[in-house]
Amino acid sequence: MAKIKIRVEKETVEVCGKKGELIADLVLGSGFFMERPCAGRGSCGKCRVIARGALSKPGPAELKFISKKNFKAGLRLACQARVMGEAEISLPTGAVVTDKIFSGAYPVESLKGPFGIAVDLGTTTVAAFLVTLRDGIIHKGNAVLNQQTGFGAEVISRMEAACQGRSKDLKRLGRESIEKAISGLGLNRGQLKEIKRAVVVGNSAMHHLLLGLPVESLMKLPFQPIDRKDRKINTLVFGTGIEVWVPPLIGGFVGSDALSCLIYLGFATRKKPFAAVDLGTNGEVMVTDGKEILVASTAAGPAFEGVNIDCGMRAGRGAITSARRNEKSQTRESAPLKIELEVIGGGKAKGIAGSGLLSLVNLFRKEGKIDATGRMRGGKIFLNRQVYLSQSDVREVQKAKGAIRAAMEVLLRRLNLKADDLDELVLTGSFGARIEVGDALELGLTPALSRDRIKVFANAAGMGCGMMLKRESFEFARDLARKAEHVELYADPDFIDRFIENMRF
Ligand code: FES
Repeated sequence: MAKIKIRVEKETVEVCGKKGELIADLVLGSGFFMERPCAGRGSCGKCRVIARGALSKPGPAELKFISKKNFKAGLRLACQARVMGEAEISLPTGAVVTDKIFSGAYPVESLKGPFGIAVDLGTTTVAAFLVTLRDGIIHKGNAVLNQQTGFGAEVISRMEAACQGRSKDLKRLGRESIEKAISGLGLNRGQLKEIKRAVVVGNSAMHHLLLGLPVESLMKLPFQPIDRKDRKINTLVFGTGIEVWVPPLIGGFVGSDALSCLIYLGFATRKKPFAAVDLGTNGEVMVTDGKEILVASTAAGPAFEGVNIDCGMRAGRGAITSARRNEKSQTRESAPLKIELEVIGGGKAKGIAGSGLLSLVNLFRKEGKIDATGRMRGGKIFLNRQVYLSQSDVREVQKAKGAIRAAMEVLLRRLNLKADDLDELVLTGSFGARIEVGDALELGLTPALSRDRIKVFANAAGMGCGMMLKRESFEFARDLARKAEHVELYADPDFIDRFIENMRF
């Protein structure tokens, strides 16, 4: 056993490490948190730390992502490098502080309970919303990174980990993420005691992992949850005392987060054809013809949340959220392209957020730097010295767009609708709210509808979840979950063809 110091900013903890232990495992066990987007496969290069002391030699994965110069400066991949004796590890602040406060957050000190909390347990982001139960008003929201990302950015790696005996850890991390999101709402001690009820929604995998249910059935054909029923428990967050309501799942990977969107967007009462897309790590597509409601889930969105993107990041300070041609300095058609970036907080761009990614791909496509098949000349376009858009980033956008459009087309066809029959289409999700409708339309993420028929709503799942804090709405949700039909895309012979077709720009 050797002494290992782990440091984040001014905070340091000391843990004992076995010879050959992975840095990432030591960090996870230290109480600090770090993301492992590719579940430690060494394929994303995002678990960088500065490490000094007795360490293993760098393997091929580290050499692929870390230059000789940076390696000399101590940069290592936490999921690859091992401690061989005493060592000191510093985590970059960004690996830990990824929380964000929703815009439109109001001071809460003067609010009086009883309170309800609506929790949208997303694969990547866990959002908590504070609701006063007497009037159902949502006062504030706070989001944190789902700490289960330590077991991988997407649900498959996490479910694999659960099957390999880590289900208790995943359950704990899910619960801790919820508690962290609630703590960040800024309630004082007295107010915290006034939290009486919480509703937690999420996709089927998040639901099963949080409740500690077996996930094997979600990983093999026909990919169904083992238990879809709603439940009311009072031991899920902050020990006991808060009654936590978990609404039912719809089917397949379509969970209660999609159900929340259906409620908030009024699917049950729509008389005209209507559709919505919840853009998250999983993209849920929902369509009604005014009678039936169909819902499908696609593995669409890690790209939109900055995962699997070389310079991807969430929409925090320094993230590019949109890009356009700088017309002022572009006096001649033939002049080299000058672009203007919109960066959160102003200043130098540190990475690319989901909406920025769509905007950049759309801009470079229009400028002829990316062709219709998605091929990018030169493989990389640098936006400053560190931040660039790569060929593989463009491929991720193509996959996400292909999946969402194909799902939309399959659902429309099943209801005998054409895209143009849609009265309205809503884009939602934490990313969906920031998206420029023009980019979505021009890239073909949405069908070619007139702009006024496409609306953008922030976090419909969280809002619908807030509505379910009311007993009657919760009962209503139960009926709606039975009414909504889950469409298994993998079983639709048309889906793959449409997916491939829709990958083109
Ligand atoms: S390279 Fe370490 S988590 Fe992806």
